[in-house]
Amino acid sequence: MTTERTFSIIKPDATRRNLTGAVTKLLEEAGLRVVASKRIHLTRDQAEEFYGVHRERPFFNDLVSFMISGPVVVQVLEGDNAVAKNRDVMGATNPANADAGTIRKELAESIEANSVHGSDSLENAATEIAFFFTSDEIVG
Ligand code: CMP
Repeated sequence: MTTERTFSIIKPDATRRNLTGAVTKLLEEAGLRVVASKRIHLTRDQAEEFYGVHRERPFFNDLVSFMISGPVVVQVLEGDNAVAKNRDVMGATNPANADAGTIRKELAESIEANSVHGSDSLENAATEIAFFFTSDEIVG
């Protein structure tokens, strides 16, 4: 087993419904440890840069508007195989396709308002963590 760090966002649909704790509980029960966390309101520029890989996708503008529609909680999660473990507990992007017990099945509203983002690789995790956190903000 390898200890990894991954990046997570609790999205505006979850903060709006006061589900920050409910999401974090599922992350922790999956064996992930929150080693950095802050509640912020993304700017449009930040959201566009963060999701830049999706710039040409038809849902890009709606995605950015949604992500700046309310506060988010950005987190660094640590644990054995944290990238895969986080993706497992998040569930499929579309909550309609997510397995029972996953965050998106239990809590998400739609493919857009899907409650959480999680890094899809160790390499992207490092990039996404560095986008929001300095090393002294991460306390393992
Ligand atoms: P996330 O893991 O944050 O990465 C990109 C996001 O785009 C994704 O979660 C979804 O919330 C959002 N999205 C909105 N519409 C779609 C779609 N049709 N296909 C994939 N992702 C979508």
